[in-house]
Amino acid sequence: MELRKVTSENLFSIVKLTVNESQQNFVASNTESILEAYVTVTAGNVALPFGLYEDGKLVGFIMFGYGGIGEEDEPKICEGNYCIWRLMIDGRFQGRGLGKKAMEAALSYIRTWPCGKAEYCWLSYEPENTAAAGLYRSFGFVENGEMDGDEIVAVLKL
Ligand SMILES: CC(C)(COP(=O)(O)OP(=O)(O)OC[C@H]1O[C@@H](n2cnc3c(N)ncnc32)[C@H](O)[C@@H]1OP(=O)(O)O)[C@@H](O)C(=O)NCCC(=O)NCCS
Repeated sequence: MELRKVTSENLFSIVKLTVNESQQNFVASNTESILEAYVTVTAGNVALPFGLYEDGKLVGFIMFGYGGIGEEDEPKICEGNYCIWRLMIDGRFQGRGLGKKAMEAALSYIRTWPCGKAEYCWLSYEPENTAAAGLYRSFGFVENGEMDGDEIVAVLKL
């Protein structure tokens, strides 16, 4: 699994990726995520969006954060730590182990410390998103009692 930066070349393929209809409440569309990345970066904060490629084929999208983005109700864990902000595998390619491979690639990338060393990686998910919760738990993420809006926050010590 390879992470490739969002560029003018792959942007329009990435925004066409979709999750299954029953999952649409679990993750923003890739268009919304990339717009959020734009406003985050122009405000001087960090957003790192990538296409996920398996054997050279685009299968999903991931976006990382680092530190806060200046919102009032951000979880405390965001300060000085990495975040897997968005993750999706296109519905056509789910259930084949690609989510796991994406998480492995994501954590390897974070451990290159693109924004400097940090102690934790955190993420959040809707309480009904049992597939994501199971995936994250299998990588050692543990709920820390915080919420990000209506999403449960879970944390991994890096
Ligand atoms: C979550 C997601 C990325 C998993 O991708 P995937 O390629 O289907 O995952 P994998 O095939 O690698 O499965 C990895 C693990 O996810 C969990 N999982 C995947 N599909 C599941 C399902 N339908 N029900 C329960 N658990 C599931 C399991 O823990 C599974 O491990 P196992 O096979 O050892 O039991 C994918 O379902 C997705 O894009 N969902 C919609 C967007 C989303 O919810 N993103 C996360 C937002 S927080």
